[in-house]
Amino acid sequence: MNLIDYPRWPSLARESILNVPMDLRSIRLSIDGKVIDYSGDIDSVIITGMGGSGVVGDIINDLCLFWDCRVPIIVSKNMRLPRRLSRPLVIAISYSGNTAETIMSANEALARGYPVIGITTGGRLSTALSAKGVPVILTPKASAPRYGLPALLYPALIILERFSVVSVTNELESGISGIENALKHVDDAVNLARQLVNSVPVVWVTESRRGVGIRFKNDLNENAKYYSVVSVVPEGAHNDIAAVITKQNGLKHVAIMGPNDYEGRYEEVLIDVISSFGAKPIIVKLEGKMPLELEMYGATYLGITTLALAELLGVEPVSTEPIDRLKNLLNERKVFQV
Ligand code: PA5
Repeated sequence: MNLIDYPRWPSLARESILNVPMDLRSIRLSIDGKVIDYSGDIDSVIITGMGGSGVVGDIINDLCLFWDCRVPIIVSKNMRLPRRLSRPLVIAISYSGNTAETIMSANEALARGYPVIGITTGGRLSTALSAKGVPVILTPKASAPRYGLPALLYPALIILERFSVVSVTNELESGISGIENALKHVDDAVNLARQLVNSVPVVWVTESRRGVGIRFKNDLNENAKYYSVVSVVPEGAHNDIAAVITKQNGLKHVAIMGPNDYEGRYEEVLIDVISSFGAKPIIVKLEGKMPLELEMYGATYLGITTLALAELLGVEPVSTEPIDRLKNLLNERKVFQV
């Protein structure tokens, strides 16, 4: 099976952090009469981006539930930023640098006087931010945005370290071990993919694995061109679960869990309830010890599963024509003024 960029993930992670400037905290800009001082204290981090770039925010949000980050992480997948923020740091992530939603939200952040840092391979985001003196971390390229995940995530982690949100230095290599471990489980991933053929996967995760669940759903959509839903519990246990009594629906339940998830026992009960209605949930146990290791194991292992599914379905995994068509049409119709 062609693993596309997955075997390069360890080196993508390592290379990407070399480009994070040392002096981020000493930057001081004046944009349209507003002084933006990167040395000031922050009280939240907004991570803005879409799809394969935006999922970095979800993964960091998961990690912060285990790491006890100093400030809240706000994941924004929109062209507008949330209102009523006081001193946020904004990390704008767009692999291509051409996603209008992300460029627009980065511009809005600057207009509000917030410090912004871009992570991208180039494109209009890089040009627009660099022209204003805003720091941009240029990251190595992959075959498509989602295949560059470590190259987008690792610089964001270093930024968190520089802004004293959390100390990540001791975790970075464990994340790479998680990737390497998952690369040893390709046969298991193929087996999981086989079980998903002719079904609509329902991906069950707890709040602390939301990022892994969303990433798996997105990879099923984009790599295998496959519909899937993700249900995050406890909330999903108060609505989605009611649909398990419908027998004919072709759903395949996949429950993802980590070894020390604080909601682990809750998920076990959920699995028992789903099973009691005749479904046979597949349980995916994340391997590893450290939080980043577990998340990277999950993103890699489940990503490879979606490549295996694409192969079983005879689907080309890299291209995502409907997304391209949407971006072109948004552009053509000038939906965004960026
Ligand atoms: O993985 C993909 O190809 C998509 O989900 C893209 O990430 C999404 O369309 C946003 O594009 P970009 O990551 O270039 O900002």
